[in-house]
Amino acid sequence: MTPDYEPVTPVRRPRRLRITPAMRALTSETRLDPADFILPAFIADGIEEPREISSMPGVYQHTMDSLKSEVSNALEVGVRCVDLFGVPREEDKDGIGSQSFRPDGILNVALRELRREFGEDLVIMADTCLDEFTDHGHCGALTYDRQGNEYVDNDRTLGLYQQMAIAQAEAGAHIVSPSGMMDGQVAAIRQALDAAGHRRVSIMAYSAKYASAFYGPFREAVGSSLTGDRRTYQQDPANFRESLLEAQLDIEEGADFVMVKPALPYLDVLAGVAEASPVPVAAYQVSGEYAMIQAAGAQGWVDRDQVMMESLTSIKRAGADQILTYFAIEAARALRRR
Ligand code: PBG
Repeated sequence: MTPDYEPVTPVRRPRRLRITPAMRALTSETRLDPADFILPAFIADGIEEPREISSMPGVYQHTMDSLKSEVSNALEVGVRCVDLFGVPREEDKDGIGSQSFRPDGILNVALRELRREFGEDLVIMADTCLDEFTDHGHCGALTYDRQGNEYVDNDRTLGLYQQMAIAQAEAGAHIVSPSGMMDGQVAAIRQALDAAGHRRVSIMAYSAKYASAFYGPFREAVGSSLTGDRRTYQQDPANFRESLLEAQLDIEEGADFVMVKPALPYLDVLAGVAEASPVPVAAYQVSGEYAMIQAAGAQGWVDRDQVMMESLTSIKRAGADQILTYFAIEAARALRRR
């Protein structure tokens, strides 16, 4: 039995622009480009073979050789920036993370090696944070308040970040990226770099960085020694306005890029920062975002490749100019196949 209401003729028909793949391509508002991707990579001290991170299938703690071939793979598909994290030997960690600023620390050795091998073909970015290098796993140096409670000492940490940034610049980093969420870290690093003659080295500031459980797999990736959490320096996931302030401060302090992290669960923050920022805005699709997509894909619960591209497209649509993603090489390959 047919229903007895009048047929309706829509005036506007948005479906007209969806009729064929060619029409959809013509009207697509957001296009991913491998040149926007930044590949995060881990270099580990004292390992003979690359070690796969169990919670991040396809991501490795690298040896120098495997790191170089990973970077070559990236360049081959048009990914031209790598963000390097160091994983020191357990016995080399200490209270202030000295391996982070020693020229023979693993991260600085690897930066030097990448710069020597790839020259200006590659943009070399370094993670400028102490958590991988400290025996307590915090992003800064610890101190005690009058009641004897331990906390991360902001201003003492700034001095350590300055040394670390100089060591990274000296090793050949084009971009240093303070991710420790200490107040004043961008200004401190800019001042130190300039004083040391590194005026051409840029700063990508982790401006809006949340105290997020989505970093879980990363802690395995870097062999983190952290037992507590980072809530006294990273932001409360409930807060939006605070991110606008953090980004504004970093820009005033001289950040060349600002960043929002994690990405997908914080697209509102990303859009807000992107709207206000006069400098490029990066977004970091973090380890937990990667792990969830890989896990559900491996189960056959979602189409992994499509979810990968959809998540990256959403991050770009929300306002990211650059995207840090462990999918960088695979996504770039998928773009080539299109
Ligand atoms: C701190 C740092 C972290 C990540 C990047 N830089 C960990 C943290 O803040 O606990 C997380 C990246 C990821 O989860 O992929 N150096």
